[in-house]
Amino acid sequence: MDSLRERTHLPFGSGKQMLIGLHLGNGYGSQPGAWRMPGVDPESYTSFDVRVKQAQAAERGKFQFIFLPDGPGAVITDIESESPAFNLDVMMTLAAVARETQYIGLVATGSTTFNEPFNLARQFKALDVMSHGRAGWNAITSSGDDVAANYGRKIPSSEDRYGRAHEVVQLIQALWGSWGKDAWVHNQQTGQFAKKEQILPISLQGKYVGSRGPLYIPPSEQGQPIIFHAGGSPNAHELAGRFANAVIDAAFTIEDARAQRNAFREAAKRYGRNPDEIKYIPGLMTTIAKDRRAALDRRIQLTGHSFRQRAGYLQQMLGIPIDAARLDEPISKELLQDARPSRYDPRAPHALKIAKEGWSLRDILAHGVIDYHPVIVGPGIEAADHMQAWFEAGAADGFWISPDVNSDGIDAFVDEVVPILQERGLFHKEYEGKTLRQHLGAPDQYGIDPRVSNK
Ligand SMILES: Cc1cc2nc3c(=O)[nH]c(=O)nc-3n(C[C@H](O)[C@H](O)[C@H](O)COP(=O)(O)O)c2cc1C
Repeated sequence: MDSLRERTHLPFGSGKQMLIGLHLGNGYGSQPGAWRMPGVDPESYTSFDVRVKQAQAAERGKFQFIFLPDGPGAVITDIESESPAFNLDVMMTLAAVARETQYIGLVATGSTTFNEPFNLARQFKALDVMSHGRAGWNAITSSGDDVAANYGRKIPSSEDRYGRAHEVVQLIQALWGSWGKDAWVHNQQTGQFAKKEQILPISLQGKYVGSRGPLYIPPSEQGQPIIFHAGGSPNAHELAGRFANAVIDAAFTIEDARAQRNAFREAAKRYGRNPDEIKYIPGLMTTIAKDRRAALDRRIQLTGHSFRQRAGYLQQMLGIPIDAARLDEPISKELLQDARPSRYDPRAPHALKIAKEGWSLRDILAHGVIDYHPVIVGPGIEAADHMQAWFEAGAADGFWISPDVNSDGIDAFVDEVVPILQERGLFHKEYEGKTLRQHLGAPDQYGIDPRVSNK
C-alpha cells in the first residue's frame, strides 16, 4: 500500500508513470466502417465541433496529448466506401481544439519532405503561442508516392529525405529562437515594443534548405514546440535521437518495443543527450466492451464486411490454406499444426496463438490480428494489463491509443481503462503542469540545442 501511494505521487518527468496520447486521424475512429456505426455523425469528417468534443473527452481522461497524423494529403483506400485516413487540415483543426481545451498537448505531423521550413516554423510556433505552450510537431519524412504526387514530385531517396529532415529541424528551431526569449518589452509608457538587438536574422543556408529570418513570433509558455518523430528505421533512430523528445511507433511485441526504445535511447546518448529526454510511445488499438464476446461482436459489426478479403491475408501470414467462405468455423487443428507463421510479419505468432484457442475464423479476424498495432478486444482491464506489462518491461514510456470508433471509444477508454491505471499508480490523476513540455518532462529548450547542432 505504501509503495502504491508513493508511486502515485511521483513528480512529473520522473519517468515512473506512463504517458497516454490519442490518435484522432480522420475523426471517425481507427476501424474501417467507423463512419457507419450507430451513433456516429456521418458528416463528422468535416466537423470541427466533433473534433473538439473528442479532444475534450481525452482531456477529461488526463491524456498528455492528441496526435493528428498527416501526409500531407489523404491516403485513400476506397473512397467509394471509406473515409480518407487523415483530417481536413491538421493545423486548422488543432487551432480550433486549442480554443476549447486547456491542458492537453496538440501534436500534428508536418512533413520535412514537402514543406518549406519557414512555413512550418511559423505555423507550429503560432499554434504554440495560441495554445499557451501545448504544441508538438511530429517531424517525419514522407514516404508515400501518393503524397509526392500531390506536389508533382517523386519520393526522394532515403539519404535526401533524411538529409533534408536534419536541416529542416535545425533551421526551424533556429527560427523559433530568432525572437529572443526576453526581447518583447511592449512597454506602453516608454514606447519600446521590442529589443531590436534580440530579434535577429538566422541567415542559414544548408544543402537542402535555407532561411534568413527572423521569425516574428515571441516564445510561448513552453518556449517553443516539442519535437516528435514517428518511424523505426535506423535513419529514424538517428533523427529522433538527435532532436526528438517523443517517438510514436508501431511495435507488436514487448521484445520489439524494448529493442526500438533502446535504439532511440542509444541514439540520444550518441548526441550527448540524456536518454530519458526521449519518450518511446508505441500504439495500441482498442475495442473496449463489457467482455470479450461483446467486444468481438462490435468488431464484427464494424469490419466484418472486409473479413473475406482479410482471410486471404491471414492465409499468407500463417502459411496454410484458409477457406474464406467458412467464417463460422475454427481452423482445424491439423491445419494449424502445419502453420508456419511468416517471419516477415511480426503479428503472425499472435495470430497463430489466437487461432489455436479455437475461435471461429470470423472471431480470429475480429481479434484484430492483422491490424497495424496490438489490439485489445475486451474489457478495460485487458488494456490496462497490456499497458502495465509493456511499461514495466521497459518497452514503452507510454502509448498512443487508437479507439475503434471515436464517438464512444474515447469515453470507454477514459471510463474503463484510465481509472485502473490510476488505481495502480501507473498514470497521473491530474495534470501537473499546463504545457506539453511539462506533461512530457522534457527539458527547457529555446532555439537550437547546442549539444546536437554541430554533430
Ligand atoms: C507510428 C507511425 C506514425 C507515422 N505517422 C506518419 C504520418 O503522420 N505521416 C507520414 O507521412 N508518415 C508517417 N509515418 C511514416 C514515417 O514517418 C516514415 O515515412 C516511414 O516510417 C518510412 O521511414 P523510413 O524511410 O525511415 O523507412 C509514420 C510511421 C509510424 C511508424
